[in-house]
Amino acid sequence: MRTTTSFLLGAAVAGSTLAVPLVDSRQADTCAPIPSPFPTWQQLPTQSSLPDPLLPLKYTTTDNVKDILVGKGPNRVQTPEQWYKCRQPEIIQLLQEYQYGYYPDHSQEKVEATRSGNTVNIAVTAGGKTGKFKATISLPSGASASKKAPVVINIGGMQNQPYLSAGIAIAQFDYTSVAPDSNSKTGAFWDIYKGRDIGVLTAWAWGFHRTLDALNTTVPEIDANRVGVTGCSRLGKGALAAGLFDSRITVTMPMSSGVQGVGPYRYIGLSGQGENLENSKSGAGWWTNSKLGTFVNHAPNLPYDAHTIAAAIAPRALIIDQGTGDAYTDSKATAIVVYPAAKAIYDWLGVGDKIGISVRSGGHCDMSGFSSVLPFVQKVFFGTPTTKDYNNLGSYGSPMSTAFPWSTALPKAQ
Ligand SMILES: *[C@@H]1O[C@H](CO)[C@@H](O)[C@H](O)[C@H]1NC(C)=O
Repeated sequence: MRTTTSFLLGAAVAGSTLAVPLVDSRQADTCAPIPSPFPTWQQLPTQSSLPDPLLPLKYTTTDNVKDILVGKGPNRVQTPEQWYKCRQPEIIQLLQEYQYGYYPDHSQEKVEATRSGNTVNIAVTAGGKTGKFKATISLPSGASASKKAPVVINIGGMQNQPYLSAGIAIAQFDYTSVAPDSNSKTGAFWDIYKGRDIGVLTAWAWGFHRTLDALNTTVPEIDANRVGVTGCSRLGKGALAAGLFDSRITVTMPMSSGVQGVGPYRYIGLSGQGENLENSKSGAGWWTNSKLGTFVNHAPNLPYDAHTIAAAIAPRALIIDQGTGDAYTDSKATAIVVYPAAKAIYDWLGVGDKIGISVRSGGHCDMSGFSSVLPFVQKVFFGTPTTKDYNNLGSYGSPMSTAFPWSTALPKAQ
């Protein structure tokens, strides 16, 4: 079977469009212009608490840091409509500028896929270059073209059986053949895009999306409109990017993801031991673009943090896994700082039930995390009610509200 998919990133979500904005297509008359060039770390204010997600980058200046920190910066976004029209696309653009590198223009790509049993062969061609990789699928019993199953696409493996038993298909692609976890610039993504300043997390995100393109055209037993993405640790950082950059992803499931996932750049000491901008950039600088390297030793000057990434996924579902035995990924700060800050924005947008956290016992990438988040995923895919409280921070207790003081100054709903 030979198929071609077209530009899909602009699919409509809740009356808005979420697209990777290669150009500033936002309405110039009502949105704050995106600064060009983007400010350097020296031009950005030092913010020791989490930046206000509602403040446009243009007004994130060194003039009045005290006001900015507490949600009194000028020209904040005032309504959910403005958020979806102006600020969310701006966030997706600034994250590409400062962290991920610019996502390739999918409208220039041709995706060809063939299925052989449970293997899907994927070939993507752009600019006369082709990259190839494979995905494998496991279908739950009873799935058919007339009874389609939702799917969770993972990299690096997951706990399959509880998902299959719940009627959810599993797909996995070989992320190392999309982009190895190294500076090698080999693999399907780099076969096409070598030479670009793009992080490997973005390459993996692209692998998720091209896998979805291929599943959509070759596996009729799978419902391509109910899709989860997951991975653990560095692969969880990739899953978060996959959820951010494609509005077809229904539920984003970063597991034990740490910094550049849902672990913060700020508050890195809360767990006593922490992954941070400096050690992630020196240990695995390829995860992100080179621009992020200019913020090394200046993380408080970043105009965003992990909560900004999470908030930009709204109104789509996000479920976070962290283990209390996983100090290195700063589970505690993810739970008491990042999660409640992102939830404040989800709540403000009226979709507070679409974000959750599961704080479990156990360590880094403990497979039980997948069962812990499954009831949330079932609620998203099937509407199955759950009594589990995905707002419970477990032994971490309550949110550290001093980390996001702007949340008490959110504009009132219209
Ligand atoms: C699946 O493919 C069809 C036909 O190309 C397209 O219209 C649809 O948007 C695709 N769905 C997803 C979820 O990608």
